[in-house]
Amino acid sequence: MDLYEYQAKELFAKHGVPTQSGEVVTDAEAAGAAADRIGCPVVVKAQVKTGGRGKAGGVKLADSPADAEQKAGAILGLDIKGHIVNKVLITGAADIAEEYYVSFLLDRANRNFLAMASVEGGMDIEEVAATKPEALAKIAIEPIAGVDPAKAAEIVAAAKFPADVADQVANVLVKLWDVFVKEDATLVEVNPLVKTPEGEVLALDGKVTLDDNADFRHPDHEELVDIAATDPLEVKAKEKGLNYVKLSGEVGIIGNGAGLVMSTLDVVAYAGEQFGGVKPANFLDIGGGASAQVMADGLEIILGDPEVKSVFVNVFGGITACDAVANGIVQAMEMLAERGDVVDKPIVCRLDGNNAAEGRRILDEAEHDVIELVDTMDEAAARVAELAAR
Ligand SMILES: Nc1ncnc2c1ncn2[C@@H]1O[C@H](COP(=O)(O)OP(=O)(O)OP(=O)(O)O)[C@@H](O)[C@H]1O
Ligand SMILES: [Mg+2]
Repeated sequence: MDLYEYQAKELFAKHGVPTQSGEVVTDAEAAGAAADRIGCPVVVKAQVKTGGRGKAGGVKLADSPADAEQKAGAILGLDIKGHIVNKVLITGAADIAEEYYVSFLLDRANRNFLAMASVEGGMDIEEVAATKPEALAKIAIEPIAGVDPAKAAEIVAAAKFPADVADQVANVLVKLWDVFVKEDATLVEVNPLVKTPEGEVLALDGKVTLDDNADFRHPDHEELVDIAATDPLEVKAKEKGLNYVKLSGEVGIIGNGAGLVMSTLDVVAYAGEQFGGVKPANFLDIGGGASAQVMADGLEIILGDPEVKSVFVNVFGGITACDAVANGIVQAMEMLAERGDVVDKPIVCRLDGNNAAEGRRILDEAEHDVIELVDTMDEAAARVAELAAR
């Protein structure tokens, strides 16, 4: 899960990283009042989970509460790379003498952690990396050893931080590593980390990605989830414990096993090209051993997506045999009927593997109007795409 800047800074503060506090507001008037409390000048900052906010006009200086209200009015509602601004952070304007860049991230290619640092921070670190790679120091971090003061000093030296801020930056790095490890992050980035004219080092921006796999260790991270900004079907699926990702197509997909579902998305997208470019509407892996309940929940979520025109249930029987899955589908249809859900979208089923013949017999016998059995995955993909295009 990516965090908003204001949430990242709250985690920074919790772990002793020097940063600025502020107030988050959702309307212009409240922005003026917040600016009044904080004391002007202030900076009004769009809170969206994407980079390049400054360049898109989402970060503005305001020298009075009225100005803050006006600037917030202009920023709220702005579309920044497809993210609509619903919240702005009002924070004190810092005087800036220098802007630096520091980050810790998971280096997947090298199966390790990596520190990156540069004294050329500010808005365009990607450009620094591309045009002046020598200005961006990259230091591998031993996962067990982590970042102690000596390692932090090594990063500071590699990035050639000026002597007057070296100790402060090293201290910031040790504390940011604390954020990275203790909060189970996969990314912690500060751009800019600034030096004020008084020589104080401060994190003025923050980006944090938390590792969802570690959620069980962090009940407090639940509060960081922005339900309003999450797709409602994904919220519902999560409540039901389903592995669901909303996509933008018309063919609902259910399969057992992540690999099978991924390849189902591919064959449906490919088949869809012949039918005006219909595409998969979602990813949904109901896993092995799927019960009728899970099948019903999955169908309910998918049929609840107004963009879905047809559904592809693609099952390869392994440990869970196809007859069990077929019974699950039949029971799921009954459950949905009992709940009063009208199932009128065509459902194409392909059953293969363990006990496939028995599974097909069960579905045949159930004689559901909307269920259609197709033997192979490719034929089923073509059929479901055709139905979606109607
Ligand atoms: N509190 C502040 N006081 C003074 N200047 C600020 C403050 N916050 C940001 N700035 C200035 O605005 C610039 C952009 O701000 P920030 O880094 O938060 O957004 P961004 O880099 O454009 O967005 P992103 O990091 O999402 O790409 C900073 O480099 C800094 O010069
Ligand atoms: Mg930034």
